[in-house]
Amino acid sequence: MNIRPAKVDDLLGMQACNLQNLPENYTLRYYLYHAMTWPSLSYVAEDHQGRIVGYILAKMEEERDEKQPIHGHVTSISVLRSYRRLGLAKKLMVQSQEAMANIYRAQFVSLHVRKSNRAALGLYKDTLGFTVKSIEKGYYADGEDAYAMELSLQQ
Ligand code: ACO
Repeated sequence: MNIRPAKVDDLLGMQACNLQNLPENYTLRYYLYHAMTWPSLSYVAEDHQGRIVGYILAKMEEERDEKQPIHGHVTSISVLRSYRRLGLAKKLMVQSQEAMANIYRAQFVSLHVRKSNRAALGLYKDTLGFTVKSIEKGYYADGEDAYAMELSLQQ
């Protein structure tokens, strides 16, 4: 399995992976916006045939007020079912976090996750060390609450 920065050619594969794995979906234009604006923050995992089996779509936060430190944000991450528990999501997260810190001087990374998403919470909390900053009531389209989570990127 190979992890590498996402290219424009990968966007359809990333979108297909997202559609299989998550109810939160995005237009191709939104993927393109990420890839063109922050080309070093999104990554793909590909199998030996070059098929996209996982991705992370990430960006720098744009709507921050002056007092808030510069930070990155994970828009979406997923791995196809038969490729899970191989450490791919962890690698995708770490690659993106390193680029946020080294290229953009991000001080922390943020994300939202469903309160019921046990696998993702295991990844964020137990493996990567994210903490819950707040609960956003009814954040998702079906009314489920989100945990707003953060991880410091400072040594
Ligand atoms: N149950 C509990 N903990 C889990 C699980 C699980 N099913 N899956 C992963 N973890 C935790 C474990 O701590 C694991 O470490 P370990 O294997 O040493 O025990 C750690 O996460 C790292 O696991 P990875 O193998 O790197 O994770 P994987 O590649 O399987 O991907 C992911 C995890 C992305 C959550 C996957 O299950 C998935 O695609 N789920 C559906 C999509 C999704 O929920 N995406 C996140 C939405 S939130 C957002 O996008 C910001």
